[in-house]
Amino acid sequence: MEVNILQNNWTENLKSKIYGGNLKLFESIESTNKKMFEDLNNNKNLKEGTVYIALKQTAGKGSYGNSWVSDNDLGLWFSVLLYSPFKKEVLTFLPCIALTKLLKEKFNINAHIKWPNDVLVEHKKISGTLIQITTVDDKKACVIGTGINLYHNENDFYSEIRNKATSLFLETGIKVDLEEFYKEFIYYFEEIYLGEKNLIELFKENSEIIGKKIKAKKDGKEIEAFVKDITEEGYLKVEVDNKEEIWISRASLDIDTFY
Ligand code: BTN
Repeated sequence: MEVNILQNNWTENLKSKIYGGNLKLFESIESTNKKMFEDLNNNKNLKEGTVYIALKQTAGKGSYGNSWVSDNDLGLWFSVLLYSPFKKEVLTFLPCIALTKLLKEKFNINAHIKWPNDVLVEHKKISGTLIQITTVDDKKACVIGTGINLYHNENDFYSEIRNKATSLFLETGIKVDLEEFYKEFIYYFEEIYLGEKNLIELFKENSEIIGKKIKAKKDGKEIEAFVKDITEEGYLKVEVDNKEEIWISRASLDIDTFY
């Protein structure tokens, strides 16, 4: 169900100018990514920077076909639309950089980006991003879906992920105002996207992975890799057994969060 956003403060006093002002708020929906994707393909004219937020998602989508449990009001579940020439792999970094900077600067939390699309606090995941691309009138439309865990207690996470997940509340003891947090996030998002620095440079500044040894599972086998760099395409340049490799996707890799 779509909620009338005039009844609340979601778009009042927004500091961002282009992104986030066009907002659709849903009380409960399968997935904000899915809904935005469908609307784009049904010729709904959606403007650059449109945002869909769900207070609950009944079928939240995670990366690589996983689900993203969000059938609750414990986080910020949203999608932002960008008509962007950037490659999907690089664009994935955008919300991760925005959130990492916000957490560091406003909450004094030592957050960092885990390649390619997670934000961690220490070794625990606080946020993930899923990008889906479609074409509208010959323009590439990128639906950038991000989930940020805000209010969870440990027991709110499924037992399988309990020791791998965290929330802003668990890290700070603060229950932020959802609308204010959204407005701050979208401001960071816009400043970064329209700013001078490129996303690869900013990824490197906000990630801890470069220069570290990481453990991963590749084709079921545990391997150790030394991370040398991030390429201009957003790929991971590693050294395994003295040989350089470029890892394009995390799909078949299970990268450890301890590094
Ligand atoms: C991941 O697996 O880390 C990516 C999670 C992405 C979740 C967000 S929540 C808002 C948007 N809608 C979805 O269905 N998924 C993304």
